Amino acid sequence: MAATKKLAQAEAAVETGTVEATAREHLLQPWPLAGRIGAESRGLVDDADGIYLTDAKGRRLIDGPAGMWCVNAGHRRRELAGAMHQQAMRLSYNTPWYTMNEPSTELARRIAAHAPGDLGHVFFTTGGSSAVETALRFMQFYNNVRGRPEKKMILTRGAAYHGSTYLSASLNGRPRDRDWMDGADDLVIRLSAPYPYRRPRGLSVQAFEDHLIGEMESAIRRVGGERIGAFVAEPIQASGGVIVPPRGYLKRAAALCREHDILYISDEVVTAFGRLGHVFASEDVFGIRPDMITFAKGVTSGYFPLGGTLISDRLLGELRATNHPDAMFAHGLTYSSHPVGSAVALANLDILEDGLLEHARQVGPYFQERLKTLEELELVGEVRGMGLMACVECVADRDDPNPLKLDNEVGKRIDAHCQELGLLVRPLIHMCVMSPPLVITRGQIDDMVDILRRGIRRTMDELVAERLWRPKG
Ligand SMILES: Cc1ncc(COP(=O)(O)O)c(C=O)c1O
Repeated sequence: MAATKKLAQAEAAVETGTVEATAREHLLQPWPLAGRIGAESRGLVDDADGIYLTDAKGRRLIDGPAGMWCVNAGHRRRELAGAMHQQAMRLSYNTPWYTMNEPSTELARRIAAHAPGDLGHVFFTTGGSSAVETALRFMQFYNNVRGRPEKKMILTRGAAYHGSTYLSASLNGRPRDRDWMDGADDLVIRLSAPYPYRRPRGLSVQAFEDHLIGEMESAIRRVGGERIGAFVAEPIQASGGVIVPPRGYLKRAAALCREHDILYISDEVVTAFGRLGHVFASEDVFGIRPDMITFAKGVTSGYFPLGGTLISDRLLGELRATNHPDAMFAHGLTYSSHPVGSAVALANLDILEDGLLEHARQVGPYFQERLKTLEELELVGEVRGMGLMACVECVADRDDPNPLKLDNEVGKRIDAHCQELGLLVRPLIHMCVMSPPLVITRGQIDDMVDILRRGIRRTMDELVAERLWRPKG
């Protein structure tokens, strides 16, 4: 039976008066399908501790995606809950329009100390979308004030995910992101995803890198560097399927940006705060110094909705020196520089600096190595990743690079089996994305990989039994 049909039946069986029934009556879930919008309940989670979640039936599940790549320090951390409590009892809120607080100032100082180059100032937001939106609006303001109002176009890539506000979402390039949604298409230039697994047949990875850079170069030539304001790129495309670009790609893209005076915005909403073993990955892992970095998620380990945009001091200095000192960057959020969010982020940074970054660097290679063993399963096309983020990409036909209809079923089925076995997977169509809390131990990594292997095997058996798929053997 198709997984969606099963789901619809389970939903129809929901009893009135339960949390599920109330959700279906009143809660609008994110990313809903039109056919179920406003009438949907999702798996109910009751509590969590460390890398584990407990669902409403009392089942303990490994939190494979760490929430949404965010619970980096793990669930139920006393230090984080305590920092929030203390700050809320001291100063729970102050208007950022004409006052400031100490925790956000200190947080900006500590974050800037970890940032590459001259990224010395932070604008705090409420999450990743608002951080990307801030970076893009800043680029527009910067170019307006500098007398280059035509320099506004934005380079983005296939498989990108940058958020759900209008401008950030206009950059998204994953399948289905834009099928039914509008966007600021007149501002966007789309490039190919740096996706080695799906590169054109017969092309080496190096030749693919050359091809991508050539494509970027000709897009800049076609549109004109004087009309392009920014290039926005996740160092590893997370929600697109943990796409690790070819080795030299990011550096070469950064060099092209410099050459054409295009601001490089590194979207580190997922990769920052320890996922790759560093506070920021742009320079420490990929050797690039962007003009802006956006972050969110792991900055508070998901305990409070906070994000931010790091901006180069050079850009700020140029603005201070213009002939338009009264031009206002009319951009601010009620919750910019939130004291409670900043306090929890400071406590979270303590945890990262006091050993969690080091732990992530230690266990990352083991995590990758163990997951890689899943490639022996016929349904698995590729396992890839870096640090504590990975993707198990399943393919019904290893010889056919185009996802088949059957592939759409696979992720959901694997997730359902893994949940029975004690692991929450994040299925993205045919891809299982794994990014557990960074506190995960080697033994827990073994458990995770073991469950995933069994879940994929069960899915393969089921597909064979239903005559939907046959291993080529
Ligand atoms: C790379 C990237 N940028 C931006 C966002 C948007 O962040 P948020 O959902 O906090 O608005 C996400 C969310 O997953 C992301 O992965």
